[in-house]
Amino acid sequence: MISRRGRGGRRRGADAPDPATDGSADAERRERQSALRRLLRRDFPERRRDALLPILHLLQGEHGYLPEWALQVVGWHLRVPASEVYGAATSYSELRTAAPAAHAVTVCTGLACWLAGGEELLAATRTLLSNRHDCSVDATACAFLCGVAPAAGIDGQWQGRVDARRLLASLSEDALSEDAE
Ligand code: FES
Repeated sequence: MISRRGRGGRRRGADAPDPATDGSADAERRERQSALRRLLRRDFPERRRDALLPILHLLQGEHGYLPEWALQVVGWHLRVPASEVYGAATSYSELRTAAPAAHAVTVCTGLACWLAGGEELLAATRTLLSNRHDCSVDATACAFLCGVAPAAGIDGQWQGRVDARRLLASLSEDALSEDAE
């Protein structure tokens, strides 16, 4: 019977292809991956599986999301399959695998805002911003502005008694001022 491990008999992990040197990445990607490998070797030298979440949180804090090239290195360093790394990366609400949009729009759909049209505000905002790939639109529970519902925020700046047109105007002004710089 032929062994799947070959004559060396060692499992994947130490023998796994090194994503930083497999020739598939461009120079910048290779450079980033090599830097991350050095950091992980220094800070997580034991390469223990239970370091997966701490490492993901570290990367989330560093990049604001979990880049695919970094997840590859994490899998190699900890000797865990990519599916496990991606599974963890997508299982926690505080972790994200996509780069954050330039502008984060948040609409409150808590009870007071829901009664004041928060769901409609959310739908209208999504429609108005459907072509703005630089904007993300998310709902949240209570934003603690119930007295001026419905409430919505852009990049952490909240407004009360807001309607979707006001939100869009605010974003347009923002984009124009950025373009002018
Ligand atoms: S429910 Fe929207 S601010 Fe409280």
